Amino acid sequence: MGSYEEQFARDYQAVEAALPGYLPQGDTLQKTVQEAMAYSLLGGGKRIRAVLCLVFCRLCGGTTEEAMPFACAIEMVHAYSLIHDDLPCMDDDDLRRGKPSCHVRYGEAMAVLAGDGLLTLGFETMLGQYYTGRYPPQRVVKAAAELARAIGTGGMVGGQVIDIQHEGKPITGEALNLLHSLKTGSLIRASARIGCIIAGASDDIIAKADSYAKNLGLAFQITDDLLDVTSTPEALGKPIDSDQENGKTTYATLYGVEKSRQIVKELVLEADLAIKGSVLDDPFLYQLADRLAQRDR
Ligand code: IPE
Ligand code: IPE
Ligand code: MG
Ligand code: MG
Ligand code: MG
Repeated sequence: MGSYEEQFARDYQAVEAALPGYLPQGDTLQKTVQEAMAYSLLGGGKRIRAVLCLVFCRLCGGTTEEAMPFACAIEMVHAYSLIHDDLPCMDDDDLRRGKPSCHVRYGEAMAVLAGDGLLTLGFETMLGQYYTGRYPPQRVVKAAAELARAIGTGGMVGGQVIDIQHEGKPITGEALNLLHSLKTGSLIRASARIGCIIAGASDDIIAKADSYAKNLGLAFQITDDLLDVTSTPEALGKPIDSDQENGKTTYATLYGVEKSRQIVKELVLEADLAIKGSVLDDPFLYQLADRLAQRDR
């Protein structure tokens, strides 16, 4: 197993090594969009969602190899969400993962299409596992259904809608929690749940994983809000003060930095509590929650 750092580095590197293999290749007329997809998918991401998928699969008795196509598919969907989130009609951010955002590099039309391409490739990658014969078909379908549910209007897209519609408007703490849970929490929950599903875990275990990831997801977005006001573009790889410029109410503006940090700590404790005494009770997950709450990027 090794230390937390060793285990994270091993999973991170395995994901980095696997991702390029799923991208469309060839000198075709669609070359530009394929380049834009590779530009945004490869390099620079923390791969938190992929790592969660791998770890939960292993804790439920599956293997890294079994989880990998699903973990990579989740990163594709995540990369799509970032491309669209940065567009001028959304957050209008020019820097992502330390590089010019996709629309800055390839133009808006190509960025919209690269996002569409990555979203679709994510589902193609997941559902394509059916044809390998390596998985019970219902696990593949269940995983893809989880992903669809997590990122639609009842999940990530819904959260982005609430986010955009509240620019320049007040929002209650309750509504902000819903916004954060949908726009960011949903995909993080799905990452953990899909790892469990691929390993054939019981509903009871999936519920525990879900509860851990739900708390982690909210803590993750609160931390993202804080980093927008406390970090630097160099450390973060994306612009700071973006939320303020877009008139967003965030945890930082609603509660202040100190109170928000306290709430993050409480959410991490809740996440830990959800897995305590179960097969998911693993030092790596406690460390992961702790590190994500204290991250600087
Ligand atoms: C950024 O996600 C968008 C949010 C949901 C906060 P990450 O912070 O995981 O971004 P990458 O993948 O590491 O670039
Ligand atoms: C975006 O939240 C969440 C997504 C669904 C992409 P943010 O707009 O706060 O993410 P960053 O700060 O641009 O990464
Ligand atoms: Mg946004
Ligand atoms: Mg943004
Ligand atoms: Mg943000």
